[in-house]
Amino acid sequence: MKKIIITGGSGFIGKNFINSLINKKFSIHNFDKLSKVSSSEKFKLKKNKYKFYKINLINYKLTKKLIFQINPDIIINFAAESHVDRSIDNPLFFLKNNFISSINLFKIFRDYSKNNGKCKFFHISTDEVYGSNNYNPSKENSPYKPTSPYSSSKASSDLVALSFNHTFKTCISIINLCNNYGPYQHLEKFIPTCIFNLLQNKSIPIYGSGKNIREWIYVEDTCEAIMKILNLKQNYYRFNIGSKIRINNFSLAKKIFVIMKKMKKTNMTKQNYYKFVTDRPGHDLRYALNSSLFYKKTKYKLKNNIDKGLNKTIRWYLKNHEWVKSIKKNYSGKRVGLND
Ligand code: DAU
Repeated sequence: MKKIIITGGSGFIGKNFINSLINKKFSIHNFDKLSKVSSSEKFKLKKNKYKFYKINLINYKLTKKLIFQINPDIIINFAAESHVDRSIDNPLFFLKNNFISSINLFKIFRDYSKNNGKCKFFHISTDEVYGSNNYNPSKENSPYKPTSPYSSSKASSDLVALSFNHTFKTCISIINLCNNYGPYQHLEKFIPTCIFNLLQNKSIPIYGSGKNIREWIYVEDTCEAIMKILNLKQNYYRFNIGSKIRINNFSLAKKIFVIMKKMKKTNMTKQNYYKFVTDRPGHDLRYALNSSLFYKKTKYKLKNNIDKGLNKTIRWYLKNHEWVKSIKKNYSGKRVGLND
């Protein structure tokens, strides 16, 4: 049975990824610091298949000790502070957390892989590192132009990973994802904000003009896509994983409204289901990924279009009261990131 270390396995994508391993032959080691935006989870995994370690990756010594003890075959670094609005209020926290934790892992992996050459390391990153993209979708070798404290914390970590590969011949693979949505996504993000505002018969706050475009993928597809990359015989250093499902915020809010109206889960009307609010400072207009390398090498076919994904997501939030309650304990829903 292969040993896999998942960092940030109690966050949104990490948790979904662990769930996707339930029927696979892996012994899973979840490293998570458990913050206000992540929560512990009782995974439906046998005891000998899953172990949780409450650890802050900024603690280099302890992280190193555990990695050497576990002796993993695969490490996937999902751990990151991820909300752009919060990074505007607290840049240093984001930079420190995302940068130092990643560099610590790269350094440890460099030492560890000297004697464990077969261990693979995947660093999960974002399309935001390429900056706002108004023309051709960004390729893996497109220039980095991050614009927010969050995206610059991710971009700087990616650059250090590349420098390690060049200088020390480590084999760190970077995977840049587009916007994910689905089960366990924190309520501060746009899709859950739409769902919970409509549920409470409140208008959806749309930043600026609502014309900002994001590329959306249902998280289950992301997890399967990452698994495809893990199973490739050849090692690739860079992969974009997008969906080509590009939609502006206003149209996305409308889709969610139409679905929830059909489900009879909101009393809002066509006239009042949204309101335009002050824009996010430095709001990137458009993200778009060229993911042809990934689709060519893995032959992966997306399982969820946006309507299917949104339907599943809404139903998940409606069903999982306990999880929602636990998140609401630490989340007021107050607007942040206005630079005021
Ligand atoms: O692109 C990948 C990135 O997607 C990830 O790397 C980030 O970790 C993740 O947070 C996400 O960043 P975004 O800023 O695109 O996601 P967010 O859900 O915060 O916002 C999506 C869009 O919706 C963005 O254009 C801002 C807008 N928005 C967001 C909120 C919370 C609104 O119009 N109203 C809102 O209330």
